[in-house]
Amino acid sequence: MRKPMIAGNWKMNLLYSKVPEYLQTLNRELAANSRIRRDAVDVLLAVPAPFLGLAREYGEKHGILIAAQTIHEKPEGAFTGELSIPMLKDLGLRWTLIGHSERRQYYNETDASVAAKAKACLDQGINPIVCVGETRAEREGGQTEAVLKRQVEAVLRETGAASNFVIAYEPVWAIGTGLTATDEQAQEAHAFIRGILRQKLGGAAEALRILYGGSVKSSNIKGLMKQPDVDGALVGGASLDPVEFARIVDCQ
Ligand code: 13P
Repeated sequence: MRKPMIAGNWKMNLLYSKVPEYLQTLNRELAANSRIRRDAVDVLLAVPAPFLGLAREYGEKHGILIAAQTIHEKPEGAFTGELSIPMLKDLGLRWTLIGHSERRQYYNETDASVAAKAKACLDQGINPIVCVGETRAEREGGQTEAVLKRQVEAVLRETGAASNFVIAYEPVWAIGTGLTATDEQAQEAHAFIRGILRQKLGGAAEALRILYGGSVKSSNIKGLMKQPDVDGALVGGASLDPVEFARIVDCQ
């Protein structure tokens, strides 16, 4: 039985000064509305780097996990603007996204660099949420499975038997577009990804969570979560409003 995870990705949005109010509202909404037991679902927020310490202070005491949006694979050095794993751990944090399609698209992250980041995380006790997904052109060209296989296998080759990560399947064409994958498209891709994990990891693949991301809202989360291989969601735009984000947690 996989514990569901509902994760928010703020991307480059909101402000440091809004973090306490956001998290107080989210905590209040979750406490007030939840039909489900709070400990039956992992709730996580990936926030901009300057907000990490403050978000931890206001979030983690209420059981909301706080994550970085990316990390560098090297522990230290002359990498202007980057965030290291020891810095994240020093803040008391244990989670990060890696390989988000926006990082791949705008910052030249590759399968190889994403795999190196995943390995660095796992070696140093950080839980990575590894993002994969095909572009519209790749889907239309019948390349979806080949792309997912290439992206997932690149990581598995680096991390081997220690591959204890969360995967987020985020079709690029569904991100920020309002075009959600249908429940069936999501299930198909998730089942395919789990098949790759199974080939490499055997029974351990059954314990790994695969989140769906791409225009998730409270109005479409239920159908997605009914799919047997959808273990949660990675929510962008709809996570910026704590009331809507709490609804998504509550709806799953
Ligand atoms: P949207 O929910 O805004 O489509 O973004 C999805 C995403 O990229 C989460 O990482």
